[in-house]
Amino acid sequence: MKTKLEEIKLAAKAALDAEDCDTEQVRIQYLGKKGELTALLRSMGSLSPEERPIIGQLANEVRTYIEEAIAQKKSEEGAKALEKKLIEERIDVTLPSKKPSVGTRHPLAITQRKLENIFQTMGFDIVHGPEVEYDYYNFKALNIPENHPARDTQDTFYITDNILLRSQTSPVQARVMEKQKPPIRIISPGRVYRSDAVDATHSPMFHQLEGLVIDKNITMSDLKGTLDTFAKTMFGEETNVRFRPHHFPFTEPSAEVDVSCFVCKGKGCRLCKGEGWIEILGAGMVHPNVLRICGIDPEEYSGFAFGMGIERIVMIKYGIDDMRYLYENDVRFLKQFS
Ligand code: PHE
Repeated sequence: MKTKLEEIKLAAKAALDAEDCDTEQVRIQYLGKKGELTALLRSMGSLSPEERPIIGQLANEVRTYIEEAIAQKKSEEGAKALEKKLIEERIDVTLPSKKPSVGTRHPLAITQRKLENIFQTMGFDIVHGPEVEYDYYNFKALNIPENHPARDTQDTFYITDNILLRSQTSPVQARVMEKQKPPIRIISPGRVYRSDAVDATHSPMFHQLEGLVIDKNITMSDLKGTLDTFAKTMFGEETNVRFRPHHFPFTEPSAEVDVSCFVCKGKGCRLCKGEGWIEILGAGMVHPNVLRICGIDPEEYSGFAFGMGIERIVMIKYGIDDMRYLYENDVRFLKQFS
């Protein structure tokens, strides 16, 4: 039995040393349930009581020897496999990477940012109002009487009798005046909605930027100075501003404001349609009725307000002749504004 054990030990060792050794197969062959060493150990019952401990010890030594040899072999194999993997899957970190394609800001967003910057520099705060608005703020608080054509369902999207999609950013004026004591100096950009069919100059959703200043002794010349600074920063130093009399229910006096054409410098061209001037916004001195409705004493305070369409500014600035380009999300168009 002793020689048999020695044989098993040598045979196992030889099997493990063989070039094409399958280590797991060797383990099963010698140490497995039906393995050669296991079988030998089972037959130990036939040994004499003297022999049993001696052979038992030797058998254990052989078992430990084979187990360790197998463990060693397996760890070598593991290391080799890892090395192979590392070589095969090596990454050349010096290769140039794929350039990620970065999107660009939408021209409307670029322009809104620019407008915000200009007015922030002049000390205006940015506030936002709800797009779903009460009829009260959109109309009534702005001195727009019940029978005014702007209230016509043709123009405004109503949700209920007294809730609508705001048709202008002017309701933010009323909301701010209600809450904040003068001095007030805010702009409010955002979406507005009107029941218009889509064409080159109309969309049922577009953007406006509202401005409001309320303080003691605010006059029309403050309005003119503010808009003049704005126009020169936005369209260039040589730009001039022109006020034309107009009517808005919430301002008195009211004006439509034009800038001198920055392409032809006022001579007349395609952009200004030969006029030399381009209309950009509506403005005026806040109507005393509006101040009163919003809890501000018109004897003590006065102010001005203005509102411009952001799409219009974008179209003028970049020479875009059809508003629909701004909403179609054609990357060939959008990429030009990077
Ligand atoms: N809300 C007006 C419009 O949508 C613009 C405006 C704002 C006019 C503020 C005067 C003062 O046409």
